[in-house]
Amino acid sequence: MTEMMKAVRLHEFGGPDVLVYEDAPRPAPASGEVLVRVHAASLNPPDLYLRDGYRALPPEWRPNATFPLILGTDVSGIVAAKGGQVTQFNVGDEVYAMVRFPEDLMKGSGAYAEYVSVPQSELAKKPLGIDHLQASGAPMSALTAWQFLVELGHDAPNPFQPFPHAPIPLEGKRVLINGAGGGVGHLAVQVAKWKGAIVTAVASGKHETLLRELGASQFIDYRKTSVEAVGQDFDLVMDAVGGPNIERFLSVIRPGGALFLVNPLGFSGQEEAARRGITVSSTQVRSNGAQLAEIGGLLNDGTIRVVIDSEFSLAETSAAHGRASQGSIQGKIVLRAV
Ligand SMILES: NC(=O)c1ccc[n+]([C@@H]2O[C@H](COP(=O)([O-])OP(=O)(O)OC[C@H]3O[C@@H](n4cnc5c(N)ncnc54)[C@H](OP(=O)(O)O)[C@@H]3O)[C@@H](O)[C@H]2O)c1
Repeated sequence: MTEMMKAVRLHEFGGPDVLVYEDAPRPAPASGEVLVRVHAASLNPPDLYLRDGYRALPPEWRPNATFPLILGTDVSGIVAAKGGQVTQFNVGDEVYAMVRFPEDLMKGSGAYAEYVSVPQSELAKKPLGIDHLQASGAPMSALTAWQFLVELGHDAPNPFQPFPHAPIPLEGKRVLINGAGGGVGHLAVQVAKWKGAIVTAVASGKHETLLRELGASQFIDYRKTSVEAVGQDFDLVMDAVGGPNIERFLSVIRPGGALFLVNPLGFSGQEEAARRGITVSSTQVRSNGAQLAEIGGLLNDGTIRVVIDSEFSLAETSAAHGRASQGSIQGKIVLRAV
């Protein structure tokens, strides 16, 4: 008899209302995978894009999905069972992961559920010093900050450019993080600070107190002051927002500096960047258990921390997506699954 679980499933693409909390078959771990009893999961922008059927993409790029599907990549939980060939984890271990990303970008990685099966290479032990809710908030955002700023950690082709992304040394460098209050941004601020950078955070005013606490030495409220008006020469700008007019950052970067684009779609400043001698680079985050283990050390000793914007139960995932659609997220939106 098929074992069942509760999960949040999609039977069609659309707004938050298409997320249905219901019974679903419990996955079985394949060889090299462990079954995780999910204690918490977190939301990331790709969950919202997929829920919506990637409507912003040209029709030929949109997913040809098989319903029902289960969204979500980021989990923290406890190993409930192991497939064959699993050597690094045991039943009962507390673990966290970003599951099968970008492999399952277009079909959902299954984290919005009571159980998810995870390749052991994508898992790390959950930092003991933080709870499952905080741990579930880390994987995609922290791995993005890490792979942009510390270590790429793989040699998979880069979907955004013909060359691999390469982090740059940050010690003593002037680094501006745009979108600093969000999931990626608040962790990028802390990682850059830990690496010895002098950090300027750009966000709406409600995030100022938090971002100064997290290590920003300068704060710019983009709703009141444009970055260009501040008139400084940064060694690196990391834009964790995207959208129109990303090119404006080129004017605040010194010759020889760099612009890292977390959301590079629509950037059209390549010629101006070349003229100014600025390296523009992007990458797509990839699941990586070994990097999560390193990040776990920093989460455990409090060097970096995950800020929780809001907390919902798994049954309230529609409301969590509603919160995400309002924007101005501070840190992470998390789902309680126990
Ligand atoms: N390359 C990759 O592999 C990768 C990985 C992860 C995420 N991403 C992309 O990176 C982006 C950020 O992801 P996330 O998880 O951090 O999203 P998020 O948690 O929603 O954070 C976005 C933040 O941007 C701020 N913001 C909005 N408009 C802004 C503006 N004009 N100027 C400055 N800040 C602004 C928002 O708050 P305030 O407006 O209140 O400041 C919010 O805190 C998304 O587009 C996502 O798809 C890419």
